[in-house]
Amino acid sequence: MSIGTAVSRVEGQAKVTGQAKFAADNTPPGTLHAALVGAPVASGRLIDVDATAALTLPGVVRVLTAHDMPRFGAVQPPAAVLALPLQNDAIRYEGEPVAIVLAESIEAAEAGRDAVLVRCERDDPILPGAATREPPPEPRMLGDDLEMGDVDAIFGTAQASVAATYIQAARHHNAMETSGTVARFEHGKLTLWDAVQASENVPLVVAAALGMRPDDIHVIAPHTGGGFGSKGYVWPHQILAAAAARVAGRPVKLHLRRHDQFVCVGYQPWMKQDIKLAATADGRLSAIDHEIVNSSAIADTHLEPASEASKTLYASPAIRTRQWLERRNINVPTPMRAPVEGPGLWALESAMDELAVALKIDPLDLRLANYAEVDPHTNKPWSSKKLREAYEEGARLYGWRTRGETPRRDGAWRIGHGMATSSMGNFRFPGGARVRLRSDGTALIEANTHDIGTGTQTVFCQIAAEELGLPIENVSIVWGDTDLHPASPVYGSSATGSTGSAIALACREINAKLDALGGKDVRASLRRANLPEMVADGAFTLPGGASFSADGDGTPYAMRTWGAIFVEVGVDPELGLVRLRRAVGAYSAGRIINPKTARSQMTGAIIWGWGKATMEESVQEPNTGGWLAKNLSNVAVPVNADIPLDIKIHFVSEYDPHASAIGTRGIGELGATGVDAAVAAAVYDAIGLRVRDLPILPGKILAGLSSQHAAAG
Ligand code: MOS
Repeated sequence: MSIGTAVSRVEGQAKVTGQAKFAADNTPPGTLHAALVGAPVASGRLIDVDATAALTLPGVVRVLTAHDMPRFGAVQPPAAVLALPLQNDAIRYEGEPVAIVLAESIEAAEAGRDAVLVRCERDDPILPGAATREPPPEPRMLGDDLEMGDVDAIFGTAQASVAATYIQAARHHNAMETSGTVARFEHGKLTLWDAVQASENVPLVVAAALGMRPDDIHVIAPHTGGGFGSKGYVWPHQILAAAAARVAGRPVKLHLRRHDQFVCVGYQPWMKQDIKLAATADGRLSAIDHEIVNSSAIADTHLEPASEASKTLYASPAIRTRQWLERRNINVPTPMRAPVEGPGLWALESAMDELAVALKIDPLDLRLANYAEVDPHTNKPWSSKKLREAYEEGARLYGWRTRGETPRRDGAWRIGHGMATSSMGNFRFPGGARVRLRSDGTALIEANTHDIGTGTQTVFCQIAAEELGLPIENVSIVWGDTDLHPASPVYGSSATGSTGSAIALACREINAKLDALGGKDVRASLRRANLPEMVADGAFTLPGGASFSADGDGTPYAMRTWGAIFVEVGVDPELGLVRLRRAVGAYSAGRIINPKTARSQMTGAIIWGWGKATMEESVQEPNTGGWLAKNLSNVAVPVNADIPLDIKIHFVSEYDPHASAIGTRGIGELGATGVDAAVAAAVYDAIGLRVRDLPILPGKILAGLSSQHAAAG
C-alpha cells in the first residue's frame, strides 16, 4: 500500500545532485541576456530613455524601449497585469519596466542597465494613507459582500461585543529561485523555459499579447524553485522576454534579479480589517461584522477576498462583510501563501481571542461553542469536517487544558499560550493526466503538472502505485511541459486533489480494462490482448464544466479545510523580543497521501506564519512610494535560529468522499492560516498587551508596554 506511506521525494536526488534544471539554467545557442530598466519614480511620464552610454559598453547589443516593442494585444486573467508596460509613456509605479537591455552576457546586461539614463516627469504619487477607499470591480472571483441577518440591530442589543481594527503589512513571496523566462522563436513557434506554478496559463496570455495562437507556444518548466503564488499568474516579464526575442531575432533570457522580484511579480497587500463580534454572555456569536480594505495598484487590481473567513467559520446567525480597495502608485499585489483566509483569520481569530478574554471563556471553548455544523452562509452540509477532532487532538498534544499548571516565566522570558482555528477554502480546478501501464509491470504518469518543492510528483506516483497495485518503485512521472497531457495548476493547495484525482481515475480505467481482459496479471493480460501497454486519460471535472471552484460550488456540499494551531511564545518585556518555543498544529484536511511531505508542508506553513506574525514587512518609502528594501538583506524572514524543533503536526484520520476522487482536500496553505492570531494571543497571554498590527516587532511591544504603564501610573 503506497498511500499513507512516508515516501521520500522522487525528484529529491536530482535536486541534491544538481541535476534538476530550472528555467534560467537553459541557454540556447545565441541567447541574449536581458536586464530590465525600471522607472525611477512612482508616478509620472517617461520623457526619454538615453541608451547612448549603455550601447558603448562591450557586449551590450540593444536597448529596447516602448518604441521598439510591438503594441500588445489585450490580455485577460490569468494575466496578473492587464496594463502592460513598455506600451506608452505612463509611469504608474516605481520600477515599472521602461527599457530592456540585451547583451551577450548577464554581466554586460547588468552594466548596460546601470548606464541607461531615464528622464521622466514626476507627479506626486498616491502614497499609503492618502488613498480613498473604493469598491472592487465586479465580478469578483471571491469576496462578494454578504449581508445576512439584521447585524446593526443585533449589535444594539448584544450582551457582549468586541470591536477592533487589525492591520497587516505588505510582504513579498521571495521564492528562492527568482522568476525567469528564456524565450526562443523558431519557425514562428515560441519555446519558453519558464519558472511557473501553472504553465498552461502562459500560452493563453503570451499569445494574446503577441497575436499568436496558444498552440504555437511551448512551455517547458520541470522544476520551480518555490512560488508561494508569485509564479501562479502570468507576469509582464514573461511577455517581455518573448517580445524581446521576437524583436531581437535571437533567444532572450530574462532572469529577474532579487530587486526585480519586489516590483515584477506581486506580493501580499497591506490590509486593514475592522471586525466586530456580538455574542451572548455564554459566548455564542450572534453577529459578525467584517470590513476589509487591501492596498492595490492604480491601473491593475488585486482584491484580497479575506471576508471568506467570516462567512464560513462560525455558526453566527448574522454576518456582514464588506471589501474595499485602496489604490496606490505601487505595483499590483497577487495571491500569496496563504491568501484569502490567511488575512481574514488574522482579524477574525484575533477578535475571537479578545472575546474569549472579555467573557472569561477559554479560547478553545469559545470556538467549540460556535462550531458550525453546516456552512453558515449557504447552510450546505460539509463534504467532511473533523475540526472537533482536530481541536481535541491538538489540545491534547499541546497540553492546552493543563497549561495553567506550567511555569509562566523562564528567566527573562514571560511565557504565553495562544491558539486559533485554521481554515482555507478547498480550491479545485479541472485536472487531467495520462497513465501508461506497460507489460513489464511499470507505469508512467504523463501530466503537465509542476514541481514547486511540495512533493507533488511523489504524491502522484503514490496515487498511481496504490490504484494500480504496483510498488512505488515501478511508477514514474514526467511533468512540466505543455506538450504533455494537460493537468491542473499548482496553486491554491489544489494539485493533489485535482490532478491526483485525474491520475486515480485514469488508473481505475486501466484496472477496468484489465479486468475485461481477464485479470490483473498485467503481463498476461496485455500479452493476451497483444498490447505493449495500456493507456488511459483521466479527467477530474467540476460541476457544469466550471474552471474553478473554491468551496464546493455547484455541488450539494460546502468544502473547506480545517485545523487548530497552538503556540507557546516567550516574550522579553525589557527588550521586546518574541520567541517561538513550541507549536502544535492539528488538521482536518481529508485523506493524507504522504505523511512525510504533508508534515513538511504544515511545518513550513507554521514557520511561514511565524514570519508573518513577527518579522515580515515590506515597507513603502513614505515620500517616494517605492519599496524601501529590494533585496533580502533588509527583509527579515525566519531562519533556523528562529524556529524550535518542537513543532508537532497531526492529521485527523479522514476520507472526504466528495471533494476529490481520492478522499483528499487541500493542505499546503492551510497550515499558514491562524498562526498570526495564535501568536498575538500568546503574546497577550504572556504580557497582557494586545498587538493588532503585524508584524509584532520589538518596538511595538516596548511602545505598547510603556503606554500601558503610563496609563496605569
Ligand atoms: Mo498559493 S498563493 O495558491 O501559490
